[in-house]
Amino acid sequence: MANGTGAGGRRTALITGASGGIGLELARLFAAGGYDLVLVARSADKLEELAGELRLQGGAVRVLAKDLAKPESPEEVFRELEAAGVAVDVLVNNAGFATYGPFVEIDLGRELEELQLNVVTLTHLTKKLLPGMLARRRGGVLNLASTAGFQPGPLMAVYYATKAYVISFSEALAEELNGTGVTVSVLCPGPTATGFQRRAGMEASKLFSGMLQVADAAAVARAGYEGFHAGKRIVIPGLINKIGVQSIRLSPRALATRMVKRMQERRR
Ligand SMILES: NC(=O)c1ccc[n+]([C@@H]2O[C@H](COP(=O)([O-])OP(=O)(O)OC[C@H]3O[C@@H](n4cnc5c(N)ncnc54)[C@H](OP(=O)(O)O)[C@@H]3O)[C@@H](O)[C@H]2O)c1
Repeated sequence: MANGTGAGGRRTALITGASGGIGLELARLFAAGGYDLVLVARSADKLEELAGELRLQGGAVRVLAKDLAKPESPEEVFRELEAAGVAVDVLVNNAGFATYGPFVEIDLGRELEELQLNVVTLTHLTKKLLPGMLARRRGGVLNLASTAGFQPGPLMAVYYATKAYVISFSEALAEELNGTGVTVSVLCPGPTATGFQRRAGMEASKLFSGMLQVADAAAVARAGYEGFHAGKRIVIPGLINKIGVQSIRLSPRALATRMVKRMQERRR
């Protein structure tokens, strides 16, 4: 494994959005893999419940209840960890959400929170935690993007653009860090069964109401966990998603954008 536990003792992984969905499954995998954990999300009760479950694996589990859509939160997380003497080896930037509908109709406040959480907080946490990893010459960053990041997404214009940022940022950073002992991976799932669709109010879209296969959160998390430890830069779980991303790359951009709009429309 390019990036795992072993020499140097236990390692610590910080996972944002660990209270549900893919983040919760990632937390289970990191705990089973011998990591100590820092779990971050808003729902303190859900994080405490998960921490109780994961402590049975024998590792230390710390809970930080934070709203990561607030600009001051990444700095607070960093300071609290520093004060507690916790060194983060692996940062998993998983927390994210989507807004759905015509851009002109979506509430601006929600979109600004979406940009803050999916893009700014992810960048800010990486900025704060990367120097420690480089000093120790180990560990890395696992970012959650989406197959949505490979093309524009009418009716989810801001969300798709945030995920395009995450893919571009992750690949660039991975190249910058080549040879340092610190790696960066970006996990790009397709539609996955979590609370995500309900939160975005998009259960009625064709994409999520039977047109495409919806993946299991545990399987997606496992692909990300294994891909990160194998040092892969881009991890796309599932054959259909891999084929989809390749065919989008070969399609005229305007055609791909029109096809996405059709899939994002509500089912009549
Ligand atoms: N599900 C899919 O179809 C899919 C596909 C591709 C990519 N993804 C990406 O995968 C990641 C995880 O999504 P998911 O499907 O697991 O979603 P989910 O089930 O809705 O879980 C989202 C997680 O993020 C946390 N979160 C949301 N807003 C937050 C905030 N302001 N501050 C701190 N934590 C916050 C939530 O916890 P609290 O509510 O407790 O704060 C929860 O733990 C996201 O980046 C998403 O864009 C999802």
